[in-house]
Amino acid sequence: MGLNIAILHVIMVFLSSWVSCGTASVSYDHKAISVNGQRRILISGSIHYPRSTPEMWPDLIQKAKDGGLDVIQTYVFWNGHEPEPGKYYFGGRYDLVKFIKLVQQAGLYVHLRVGPYACAEWNFGGFPVWLKYVPGISFRTNNGPFKAAMQKFTTKIVNMMKAERLYESQGGPIILSQIENEYGPMERELGAPGRAYTKWAAKMALDLGTGVPWVMCKQDDAPDPIINTCNGFYCDNFSPNKAYKPKMWTEAWTGWFTEFGGPVPYRPAEDLAFSVAKFIQKGGSFINYYMYHGGTNFGRTAGGPFIATSYDYDAPLDEYGLLRQPKWGHLKDLHRAIKLCEPALVSGDPTVTPLGNYQEAHVFNSKSGACAAFLANYNQHSFAKVSFRNMHYNLPPWSISILPDCKNTVYNTARIGAQSAQMKMTPVSRGFSWQSYNEQTASYEDNSFTAAGLLEQINTTRDMTDYLWYSTDVKIDPREGFLRGGKWPVLTVYSAGHALHVFINGQLSGTTYGSLENPKLTFSQGVNLRVGVNKISLLSISVGLPNVGPHFETWNAGVLGPVSLSGLNKGKWDLTWQKWSYKVGLKGEALSLHSLSGSTSVEWVEGSSISQRQPLTWYKTTFNAPGGNDPLALDMNTMSKGQVWINGQSIGRYWNQYKASGNCGACNYAGWFNEKKCLSKCGEASQRWYHVPRSWLRPTGNLLVIFEEWGGNPNGIFLAKRELASVCADIYEWQPTLMNWQMQASGKVNRPLRPKAHLSCAPGQKISSIKFASFGTPQGICGSFREGSCHAHHSYDVFEKYCIGQQSCAVPVTPEIFGGDPCPNVMKKLSAEVICG
Ligand code: GAL
Repeated sequence: MGLNIAILHVIMVFLSSWVSCGTASVSYDHKAISVNGQRRILISGSIHYPRSTPEMWPDLIQKAKDGGLDVIQTYVFWNGHEPEPGKYYFGGRYDLVKFIKLVQQAGLYVHLRVGPYACAEWNFGGFPVWLKYVPGISFRTNNGPFKAAMQKFTTKIVNMMKAERLYESQGGPIILSQIENEYGPMERELGAPGRAYTKWAAKMALDLGTGVPWVMCKQDDAPDPIINTCNGFYCDNFSPNKAYKPKMWTEAWTGWFTEFGGPVPYRPAEDLAFSVAKFIQKGGSFINYYMYHGGTNFGRTAGGPFIATSYDYDAPLDEYGLLRQPKWGHLKDLHRAIKLCEPALVSGDPTVTPLGNYQEAHVFNSKSGACAAFLANYNQHSFAKVSFRNMHYNLPPWSISILPDCKNTVYNTARIGAQSAQMKMTPVSRGFSWQSYNEQTASYEDNSFTAAGLLEQINTTRDMTDYLWYSTDVKIDPREGFLRGGKWPVLTVYSAGHALHVFINGQLSGTTYGSLENPKLTFSQGVNLRVGVNKISLLSISVGLPNVGPHFETWNAGVLGPVSLSGLNKGKWDLTWQKWSYKVGLKGEALSLHSLSGSTSVEWVEGSSISQRQPLTWYKTTFNAPGGNDPLALDMNTMSKGQVWINGQSIGRYWNQYKASGNCGACNYAGWFNEKKCLSKCGEASQRWYHVPRSWLRPTGNLLVIFEEWGGNPNGIFLAKRELASVCADIYEWQPTLMNWQMQASGKVNRPLRPKAHLSCAPGQKISSIKFASFGTPQGICGSFREGSCHAHHSYDVFEKYCIGQQSCAVPVTPEIFGGDPCPNVMKKLSAEVICG
């Protein structure tokens, strides 16, 4: 009976796609997504189009393809596309159609997550701020105004894709869509209205008739035929809600995002590969890396609050679009190994046999006789020697070996064959000659309006700016006791966030700020008041709107009070309800000082008299574009907090003063990973470097403008290029490689082969010297290798001979070429680091 219903469902799924599109080019069953009738193991990666420039897109997509991807996944960013109700924008970094067509041209598929809720550490989760002000609205629930707006935008996008013939059913690259995003947890919190909204969203999406399947991620009750999918660091234990749906992983987190004030997370390639192999061996057939290229939160697109400008994510392509090695290469090797198994993988479910207490074999057989096996060792601490089909295999801790013929290992998740790379930032422009302009603290004269009491910040600015001034006057009587040598009165300000600078009579008196975990803040400090009228000016700063959480649209920012002065003759003076004047944004913003035309509208100070270490200062300079194609970045470490623009375009918020606090101890790949396990940059700025896209520059006279809130030294700022400094190989003797397996499979050799150490600098670079080479038992990691007790004395000579002056080289891991075995009966490896120049 159950089986009959399942079969009926499969038939219905097939029928519904036939009916809606006529060609049924994308369908699915319990095993996999099928494209043109062919079940596929699909490897996908997230690249969010507005997080890079259109000029970068072709290269990013090509590198994704070279890395073994079949699919590019992206959200659609509503607030970028509809900045004002009914006014649409699809130009520049928001040219969605162009992006999708580039993916198509590269021969890859697209998974389009229409949302339109994105989350994604993106401002307001992708919702336009005006949406909050639609009368009667309540986000992401069974609410009429919200559903109407969501349907309108979703329909707009789907129709646009149809008009451009971008769905696979029309011959285009889009094979999958997503509606909503991780709504399951929210639904559980909301109860009945949440469930009703889920049903509505599913039906609304299905009724759009895209001709390709829809998914809902983290949504156990996704209505049929929508496929519910998994997001996480591991997803092997996930199963979809119906037996006829395939097991799909829409977000395999390659690392994690950085927040200002937090350390920079990273995820070891061995563990990422392990999690993917584990998912595939348990019958998974679609995996998407979130992120494959994280990129940059340009302008004010970062969410949070407190999400950093860099969205690097420790992804296989770094923020700048360069290969992150060894992660990119190790995953590429994994994808090739998986693809060799594809015929067996799509044929049926695996047979699982225990090989030990913590070891298992997953074996896939196809009708045509193909056999693929995954041998897993879940033990975090020790190697396992296992026997499988009368052969012996040695499995490193926390690893999976892949045997595409059920016999020979071509890949082990913990054995990296790909090279590692060390990047460097080389200064290319420095010694800028700066001009400065002092932004005024707000005063009554230029205040836009007054109100009794304190106003919420987002309601007041509508997020058109990070900045809102709150100012009020306090009159100090000459008889006040503190004036005669007592303690300063203490000003206490409670704010909903996110950062606050307090000015007394135009002088910065203190600064305080929250964090992603707790955006709220309290300022409480003695302040220097004088007899007569004193001006208290509070500059409240938002640092990105929240992107996740129950009804995040209702979360407040700004000085909500109470605000009080204590230590006066009358004790405590509550200022909360007195008259406050407000000014939205900065004077420099109103004058567009960041733009080419606006920057000439004020008198700038030049030379030695420019302001340094002064709060509220604008700086500008011009520079010529450095030659070459290497990506560029600004070192902002001598500055504190503010924003940077190049030729009028914002490269984002900087906050170098916010140092990363956390525990950056050593991190072992083996064992369960979470976003707090492997951290870097503790005690340093969470983000030091700020990406300057090459395409934003012209050959000469580029305008660089900075607004510094807090005080910094612009003379320390410089522009650097990012390039490869050195590359490393770290290979065990007898480490299996795909190339050797192919040699054996083709019958060219019938014995095990030794691997080679492959090293390759960037195009145009050459290997200029050997920093380290040792065949034996070397220790350490790329960048800090050292010799072990066993070392072949010819190690350096061999690398000198094979590699110097070459762009790339391959050195066989064979004792003979190193002058013989330096320590027989010991497992040896070859570690080398060569300098690229
Ligand atoms: C997921 C979410 C993504 C992103 C990610 C964290 O839960 O779906 O949009 O926010 O978390 O980077």
